[in-house]
Amino acid sequence: MNGRDLVRSVKAVGMVGTAQGLRTVRSSWRRWRSDARALPRGGAERARVPGAVTAIEPASGGGVVRFARAELRVRVTAGGAVFLGWDGAEPEPSYALSGRSPEPDPRAVLEPDKEGGWRVVSERVTAVVSRLGAVALYTPGGVLLRRDLPPRWWEPVAGGAARWVQRSEVAADARFFGLGGRAGGPRLRNGTYRLWNTDPGGSFGPDDDPLYITMPVQMVVADAGTHLVFHDNAWEGEVVVCEGVVGDGSGHDRAGSCEVRMGGGPLRYWAMVGPPARVLHSWASLTGPPALPPSWALGHHHARWGFGSEQEVRRVVAGYQERGLPLDAVHLDIDHYEAHKVFTVDKERFPKLPQFAGELRRAGTRLVSIVDPAVKAEPGGAVYDGGVTADAFVRDAAGRQVRGVVWPGEAVYPDFTDPRAREWWGGLYEERLDQGFSGFWHDMNEPVSFAAFGETTLPRSARHCLEGRGGDHREAHNVYGLAMARAGYEALRRLHPEERPFLFSRSGWAGMQRYGGTWSGDVSTSWAGLRASLSLVLGLGLCGVPYSGPDVGGFDGSPSPELYLRWFQLGAYLPLFRTHAAITAGRREPWEFGDEVLGHARGVLAERRRLLPYFVTLAHLARRTGAPYVRPLWWGAPEDRVLRDCENAFLLGDCLLVAPVFESGAVRRTVQLPRGRWYDTVTGAAYEGPGKVLLDAPLSRIPVLARAGSVVPVRGAHGGVELEAWAPAAGASGGGLVVADAGDGWEEGEWERYTTRWSGGRVVVEREDGGAGPAPERPVRVRGLGSV
Ligand code: NOJ
Repeated sequence: MNGRDLVRSVKAVGMVGTAQGLRTVRSSWRRWRSDARALPRGGAERARVPGAVTAIEPASGGGVVRFARAELRVRVTAGGAVFLGWDGAEPEPSYALSGRSPEPDPRAVLEPDKEGGWRVVSERVTAVVSRLGAVALYTPGGVLLRRDLPPRWWEPVAGGAARWVQRSEVAADARFFGLGGRAGGPRLRNGTYRLWNTDPGGSFGPDDDPLYITMPVQMVVADAGTHLVFHDNAWEGEVVVCEGVVGDGSGHDRAGSCEVRMGGGPLRYWAMVGPPARVLHSWASLTGPPALPPSWALGHHHARWGFGSEQEVRRVVAGYQERGLPLDAVHLDIDHYEAHKVFTVDKERFPKLPQFAGELRRAGTRLVSIVDPAVKAEPGGAVYDGGVTADAFVRDAAGRQVRGVVWPGEAVYPDFTDPRAREWWGGLYEERLDQGFSGFWHDMNEPVSFAAFGETTLPRSARHCLEGRGGDHREAHNVYGLAMARAGYEALRRLHPEERPFLFSRSGWAGMQRYGGTWSGDVSTSWAGLRASLSLVLGLGLCGVPYSGPDVGGFDGSPSPELYLRWFQLGAYLPLFRTHAAITAGRREPWEFGDEVLGHARGVLAERRRLLPYFVTLAHLARRTGAPYVRPLWWGAPEDRVLRDCENAFLLGDCLLVAPVFESGAVRRTVQLPRGRWYDTVTGAAYEGPGKVLLDAPLSRIPVLARAGSVVPVRGAHGGVELEAWAPAAGASGGGLVVADAGDGWEEGEWERYTTRWSGGRVVVEREDGGAGPAPERPVRVRGLGSV
């Protein structure tokens, strides 16, 4: 323990009260001691590189290339993704993959390449393995996208996990995105990005890294093409990103690079090549389709840590009702628990929760419950005793329960990497359903244990089941939240098979979209926090997690009315639209910021409601294709370098472009438009892209533009789905999609495709399949005609 740690210990005692502070200091000591005893100490290591090729062994989809001191399996799969596994690493077992890994593409075979190397040519990508173990990925047109240099391992002489490093080169113009939820992006600046899910403590801004969700997924966008690389390894690691430099055209470019460094675990990775939409489709095929939220979860949610009582929740809900503001869900935080204990209810403050939940539901508002993983270590407590009987809690290397400290005091942690623990935990959701909750908000699952010094999580030496393979927290840490989400999701499927589970989780890893979404966590109440909010949603979307959103208004403190409103305006165009704040923070209800803000917020809520059918369609599209609702401007034009660097606006699906205001006092802003015609959705004015335009952004609204020719499904005055079609540019055509569903359940909604075109001086909107099937005739409103 150093001086800084000592100060933290003293602070811990001061901050959380003496008893909790002392517990925290004790738990930090325990953590430190168990790691000191059980973890291997740094000893002598042997470095290894592959050496030269010695032989090959062909197999379907590619084969194995043997080197003097290593071997590499190359397998092109039927969907076009390439698997590369060193030293016997296979795609499975994996926490990221949704099922069995895809079949090899039998047409892809190993062929000799120049200078003693080998290559596998397939429809979407060519992988070339050099004589010394470098792997180069080319587009089908033969343009180099990425070159992974021969890896290097360091193996402890005394045995144990080998760490490894793999350095890769990309084009000088390439930009990096992804690596989970990063606040300073979405474009990843040069620097070192840690792969270790972390609660930053307090609130965070763009400079805080890492955060709650990290994952070794990089999306690389360059003139030559887009590719995604996923290192399927959950160990602690880091990725060093270094963008290249594009020279003056005289051939003096400097290539970009990245280096993946892992503390252990297999060196295996997947690469996907193609336009962004195809890459994300391959990614979703590999790791599973995003869960479909029930449509109420695409409405407006209001949360607060510290409602404190049923009366206060009633007051807030009535506040929405009296002002005619839609409210689709209210979230109860840990203060509705009895003494902060998960799966309990404080009966004094919430005496009749099931009745209250029923009442709210009838009025159109669902209740969502926070669920923390840590269980108070108290013999006699039903959850604790049940977990002990099921042998569900994480133990240390000596077989003792690992105890940390969270809100309820000393706590134990279910080992979600154990199928039996998942089963037991899942059963507990029945209590939540009986209380009337419709959705679940997983928190503190990095997992967090408060610390006076050292890291705020479990000891690295803590033992985990890891699906029967056994291992320690170094390997299980990053998948803890993912496995908790799995436990919850699978339980909800069992307990309420007719409903779509609604679950979102603060922490997670590659593949978490199968079980639900996430939210920004404790984003700071500042303009910088507002920017970080969008960065997180965009970055996670590119990692295959399409449903997320920030705490509107920021987590801590009190936003100015202007900041609150700008946040509200951004949040309304993100999948999860939720106001939330800390127990010590100021109010977040739209009427708490004066009449002007309330008036504008009312308009925002009405617009979100009007766009609900579009959000539902985007949810279905995400499920079927992996395309996120919220996409960077370069989504359809990755070759556009200006768009690649543009981070202050986004596309919502194919139809809309949203340009939030991120600066105090701003009443107009420049917007970088992708190619084509765009209409201001309020004024109807038309603008031609590509290029920059200066648009009005008065306090009442942020600029939202519609793509010419697009068809946006909207909610009509009587609740039905109508079509808002935007006139195509002269001589051009367009189209759009409507997936209308019942709002919940599993029945497949019909996919209606519409086209727009000019005919005889009129804009014609038609069902692409001629209107076959039972879909109703939809009222159509054509807009943008004034500017033609
Ligand atoms: C941390 C979460 O990020 C926050 O949203 C929540 O309000 C607090 N935990 C209390 O449960």
